[in-house]
Amino acid sequence: MPLVTTKEMFKKAYEGGYAIGAFNINNLESIKGIIEACKEKNSAVILQCSTGAIKYAGMDYLIALVNAASKESGLDIALHLDHGPDFETCKKCIDAGFTSVMIDGSHHSFEENIKLTKQVVEYAHSKGVTVEAELGVLAGVEDDVVADDHIYTNPDEAVEFVKQTNCDSLAIAIGTSHGAFKFPPNFKPELKFEILEEIQKKLPGFPIVLHGASAVDPESVKTCNEYGGKINDAVGIPVEMLRKASSMAVCKINMDTDLRLAMTANIRKVFGDTPSEFDPRKYLGTAKDGVKAVVLSKIENVLGSENSSSSKKCGCNCGCK
Ligand code: G3H
Ligand code: 13P
Ligand code: ZN
Repeated sequence: MPLVTTKEMFKKAYEGGYAIGAFNINNLESIKGIIEACKEKNSAVILQCSTGAIKYAGMDYLIALVNAASKESGLDIALHLDHGPDFETCKKCIDAGFTSVMIDGSHHSFEENIKLTKQVVEYAHSKGVTVEAELGVLAGVEDDVVADDHIYTNPDEAVEFVKQTNCDSLAIAIGTSHGAFKFPPNFKPELKFEILEEIQKKLPGFPIVLHGASAVDPESVKTCNEYGGKINDAVGIPVEMLRKASSMAVCKINMDTDLRLAMTANIRKVFGDTPSEFDPRKYLGTAKDGVKAVVLSKIENVLGSENSSSSKKCGCNCGCK
């Protein structure tokens, strides 16, 4: 099964009132955990790499692993560049076989963001690759960029931006935030559904993306800390709010932190419970299982994307194609 773009995925997701999970990958364990869960649920999926992930694992290694996952699973999988910082990085990924790229011009002026996004869209579309852009600023850390405050997306600007750039999807800021320390423990996170509704009304049928959508699972944080970790308590994005967003125009939901926390919790537990263990397959295997459990729960409770992959013909879990 060749990798697919996000075009058809998003069309089906929009019409079906669900979203596709976009999970960050860095290594074999994260990819296998995500794919095992998606196979069990017959869910389409976006595997995305940041520039940091590419630097860590190497682009050729990541592409080979994702192609292997696609061949083995038969699922609808898109390989996506997360937070592409410039035209050159996007071009490199497109030329190497990514089926989707994000150009993140959100820290530039509106005009500069349009100019940069247009340049990427023109090149990507000439190669049959889809483009996600971003308008508005999320609080938190995006690679090396730290923003203290949200700048919520302006719906009228979103319309103008999409019209001028011809991008395929748009990441918006409505109250989500990157990383593990999104909000202090007693904070009540809130998504600005009125902004999402207005954008949906003004751009009917157009796929919207949410970044920074991890729930920061308290159980994972507790396990990490019980086994020698030092991760401050924090509140993530409530699952019900994300499910509501995915039933609306939100077609792609990005999650990375929850996978990182689950991997770390499981590895710490193995080391804590079995100090004699030194076979990497044992502790990395539980890290993979942690990722799988998180993705299964996201498909059920956040995304609603069960049976969204076109590859499997029956509703069973037998692996038939
Ligand atoms: O939004 C950022 C993602 O969580 C990727 O993080 O740049 O540390 O790989 P990273
Ligand atoms: P989290 O940090 O909430 O997992 O968000 C990840 C993300 O948006 C990747 O682009
Ligand atoms: Zn992001």
